[in-house]
Amino acid sequence: MSDYSHYLHTALTCAHQAGLLIKEQHAKAKKFDTKSNNSDCVTETDKASEELILSMIKSTYPTHSIISEESHCTDGKYDVTDNVTWLIDPIDGTNNFVHSLYHVCVSIAVMVNKEVVVGVVHSPILQETFHAVKGQGAYCNNQRIHVSNQKDLAKALVCTEFGYDRTDEGIELMLGKLRNLLKNKIQSIRMFGSCALTMCAVAMGRVDAYYEGKDEFQGPKPWDVTAGSLIVKEAGGVVYDTTGDKFSYWNGRVFVACTDELTHNVLSCINKSKL
Ligand code: IPD
Ligand code: CA
Repeated sequence: MSDYSHYLHTALTCAHQAGLLIKEQHAKAKKFDTKSNNSDCVTETDKASEELILSMIKSTYPTHSIISEESHCTDGKYDVTDNVTWLIDPIDGTNNFVHSLYHVCVSIAVMVNKEVVVGVVHSPILQETFHAVKGQGAYCNNQRIHVSNQKDLAKALVCTEFGYDRTDEGIELMLGKLRNLLKNKIQSIRMFGSCALTMCAVAMGRVDAYYEGKDEFQGPKPWDVTAGSLIVKEAGGVVYDTTGDKFSYWNGRVFVACTDELTHNVLSCINKSKL
């Protein structure tokens, strides 16, 4: 088995250092700029967190590639190679951060040959650090974690996100999926405002499934989903495209769940809704 412990150590150090910056600013009033639309925000702390993480990674691994949210262009294309590649979200849950809400984290993943081998998600407010190394299980604050065993929609808590899609078509699609889940008597639906932390909640067994996204422009980005996808898999969960096809980090659609049975039950609801 390959030894990725050095990458894990660097990712954890970066996440904890950036977490200190985030925690210090969390309760304060923030100024923010907007990106793709008025929901998609960036603050000085997103940029400061990214700068800190990038400088640590570049000085430790000068030849590695980096795909990071605030310095990536917004064309929906990712120039990923077989080189070791770091995927970084310096703050996942920026809207929550702007409003001083709890679900805010740093998400860092390492890919080798286009496969995720290390994932770290650190929540400085909730004081939970999730990590996984390929083939070695998933952990929260160094305690092994597992997904739930839920199969039944009527007993399931499922999360989704509205993301930043404010088009008429996007809104109808998202509401249609919610309507079908509710009509099929789902127990609970929640939105936490952080893709990475929601995936970790599935890995912990707190949430039974999570779905989000339409395409590479309207949906979670690779830096939102890469660390979380490994953490869910290593916790015994499953990761798919929202269509039920094989998951891709790059196309803006993610579905994670605890069991294949619940996957079937949720996907058959959300894919019925082509309003
Ligand atoms: C976003 C959050 C949000 C999700 C979006 C993500 P950001 O990340 O995870 O919950 O709905 O798809 O892009 O902008 O806070 O880093
Ligand atoms: Ca972000």
